[in-house]
Amino acid sequence: MMTLTDKQKFARFLDITNDFLDCGYRKSPKEDKYDDNPRLNSDDFDTIEKIAAEIRACSNCSLSEKRQNAAPGEGCLSPLVMVIGEGPGQEEDAQGRPFVGRAGQLLDKMLLSINLSRNENCFIANVVKCRPPGNRDPHPEETAACAHFLERQITLLKPKFILAAGRVAAQTLLGTSEPIGKLRGKFTFLDIAGSSFPFLVTYHPAALLRSEDLKRPAWEDLKLLRLKIDSSRNEEL
Ligand code: URA
Repeated sequence: MMTLTDKQKFARFLDITNDFLDCGYRKSPKEDKYDDNPRLNSDDFDTIEKIAAEIRACSNCSLSEKRQNAAPGEGCLSPLVMVIGEGPGQEEDAQGRPFVGRAGQLLDKMLLSINLSRNENCFIANVVKCRPPGNRDPHPEETAACAHFLERQITLLKPKFILAAGRVAAQTLLGTSEPIGKLRGKFTFLDIAGSSFPFLVTYHPAALLRSEDLKRPAWEDLKLLRLKIDSSRNEEL
């Protein structure tokens, strides 16, 4: 029998080695490995798939009552950037995937403009995983009920950078009511479960669809993110 400490060490080792595997959405790569070893019970380890299954079965707040599908999140499992939005809209609710409607298509283009994509190097998620009716802002008790899922996703994925898309995501993650105009455009750190992640806020793609004027500052934010990614790479060399 392995001790708990051995198991924890092994989990950390698997986390590190997974970084060397190709990106892209893969079904439970860790569980595949655990299944090979009868001494290890995969139920002891958190995985993105396990969190997603819990989200799909969740009834911790009233948003679950009206959903067609929860949208747990998707993308690269060792992401350079984790993009965090507000919550699923109509299309996301229909498909059970984040950012797949008009705003999501624009988000994909915004990411592509700085060589990022959900298939290659990003993970996309939201602060709430079920659609707020009529696309209203999620209520504080709803973001609170969902917070542990996002925290576990961040802890597991260990993104190099976090990009908050829009006011609701930014204010929820930072625990502030500062307007987005004050929060965007500068790097800070987001502290999650004892780890600190470089953190940038930008406008939500849906806001860009409504207002041309926001495209320029959003582009400045994206260039800043690219610059920060490139300079952190140079520092590593
Ligand atoms: N808006 C969001 O904030 N998230 C989505 O997944 C879709 C639209």
